Amino acid sequence: MSVVCLPGDGIGPEVAAAAAEVLAVLAPDVELEEHLFGGAAILATGSPLPDETLAACRGADAVLAGAVGLPQFDAADVRPEQGLIGLRKALDVYANLRPARRGGVDLLVVRELVGGLYYGAKGVREDGTVFDTMEYHPSQIERIARRAFAIAGERRGRVCSVDKANVLDTSRLWRRVVTEVAADYPDVELEHMLADTAAMALVTGPERFDVILTENTFGDILSDEASAVTGGLGLAASASLGDGGPGIFEPVHGSAPDIAGRGIANPAAMLWSTALMLEHSLGRPDEAKRLDEAVDAALERVQTPDLGGDATTADVTTAVLDELRN
Ligand code: NAD
Ligand code: IPM
Ligand code: MN
Repeated sequence: MSVVCLPGDGIGPEVAAAAAEVLAVLAPDVELEEHLFGGAAILATGSPLPDETLAACRGADAVLAGAVGLPQFDAADVRPEQGLIGLRKALDVYANLRPARRGGVDLLVVRELVGGLYYGAKGVREDGTVFDTMEYHPSQIERIARRAFAIAGERRGRVCSVDKANVLDTSRLWRRVVTEVAADYPDVELEHMLADTAAMALVTGPERFDVILTENTFGDILSDEASAVTGGLGLAASASLGDGGPGIFEPVHGSAPDIAGRGIANPAAMLWSTALMLEHSLGRPDEAKRLDEAVDAALERVQTPDLGGDATTADVTTAVLDELRN
């Protein structure tokens, strides 16, 4: 089995190194091949997603990505984030699963990943107005809704579809298509919620949610929020899946320039993303479970500063390796 690893920028390479160390012990037969991506790729080749990187990703069983983004490119025309946006589209990984768990909270954000504002028409008008457009075709909504209902059926059987149907036409389409899809899943209960209300409810009562189904931009924002109520970005993993073909597995967090280079990034989000990869793309649920549990157990003993401790990335990685060897 072959995995393309895209370490990327900032803390990306730091947490990717942790994943590589752990995979070498847990699943030594998995071949890990590193490729340029993001800001690092712009600096080396001029492109955030070089052809050679994209070809390798297409040919792999799965893609494990760290994070992209460098402050020096914030105002540039060619930016690291464009590599990620392009890769998601090229692999058509439309279903982004972002679990958030802690105490009585166990929810899953199912975020549509290859449509909406990120991919709609954009440009500049003659008068200087800049525009991005939220666009959805019914088929794009239908496939992500089917995915969410199928997953909810294996969980607690509840889907909360989040939109802004009181304002946006795309949201009214979203609501209609999701309601139609729901008819095929009689055992799953559907509720609709407006995005602003959902943002509030995630803070005041996150326990009420099972699956949160939403479009690309709302899902980006609400998944960071869900992570914040369940321990922070250092713990938030994600899987991006299409219909067959390699999935992309990456933490929800970014390149964290404020702590990059200090060796204190929490590798848990990356390691749990690696577990999602073992489960969803490599067909190795047993190793996925072992890794999940090893990270849980390690975090009982050592915590990086984001969790209030003073452990380093290497300390946590070593603790996970110890758990795996026991
Ligand atoms: P960020 O997620 O990088 O960081 C937000 C805050 O969370 C920071 O204080 C950071 O130190 C902390 N944090 C994040 N991950 C952590 C970890 N593993 N351990 C400990 N603390 C952690 O968001 P940002 O600062 O707004 O964005 C920085 C760059 O990352 C931007 O260029 C952005 O576009 C990019 N970004 C990339 C991805 C991705 O590649 N998937 C995701 C989000 C943001
Ligand atoms: C994420 C990130 C990306 C997104 C950026 C870096 C393009 O914030 O994966 O959540 O907005 O999807
Ligand atoms: Mn985000």
